[in-house]
Amino acid sequence: MDEKARAQTASKSAAGFRAADMVEDEMVVGLGTGSTVFYMIERLSARIREGLKVSGIPTSYQTAIRAREYGIPLTTLDDYPIIDIAIDGADEVDPHLNLIKGRGAAHTREKCVASAAFRFVVVVDEQKVVPRLSAPVPVEVIPFAVRPAMSQLREFGCLPVIREGVKKDGPVITDNGNFIVDCTFSEIARPAELEDAIARIPGVVESGLFCGFAEKTTLIVGNEKKCRIITSADIVP
Ligand code: A5P
Repeated sequence: MDEKARAQTASKSAAGFRAADMVEDEMVVGLGTGSTVFYMIERLSARIREGLKVSGIPTSYQTAIRAREYGIPLTTLDDYPIIDIAIDGADEVDPHLNLIKGRGAAHTREKCVASAAFRFVVVVDEQKVVPRLSAPVPVEVIPFAVRPAMSQLREFGCLPVIREGVKKDGPVITDNGNFIVDCTFSEIARPAELEDAIARIPGVVESGLFCGFAEKTTLIVGNEKKCRIITSADIVP
């Protein structure tokens, strides 16, 4: 592992561990998806072995499988439509705590779980903190409507591409049985407006823009030495 990759791993693990330490006894915890959340699961599992009592709601098959391997009891949004805390990674975060998520195609369930939570803890490394969102926006679309949905996405000024599988021919199929359309914009000037506009396209399930959670978000930016914590109180209007 080169120095940059080693530093990034250390930063992710610092953020994930810090988030797991925010979990209190008897909480219901939304378990996000991805490599940073993996460290949170590891630490949460260690705390459970030490006596912490929690249950988790996984946002993907990947997380459900990992959480079971790590001995985290699981539950569902059917049992707990309102939960204490959700902990998740992100692909980009801007200074207003708007996020782009969905690199792993799990953003629909991630958004449901974040929405159900009183508190949303986002774990990232420094490279994900950007002055302006610019990463491709993943959009989950039902296969039936993918062509008309892509035409409408194009009208917003992006280049939409159906995500292809790796070690699987053809499109990625999400945990919900849908396609992912990755939308590359030359700029995302007003992310909240874009999120609303995309949500109005028939056939769109969810986009990876998360612009409505800033008030309840705690951002943990992992660092090899010390984590930075950013909340809505730090947002400069
Ligand atoms: C899953 O679809 C994504 O939203 C992830 O939560 C996001 O891509 C962050 O993943 P990493 O922590 O692996 O970068």
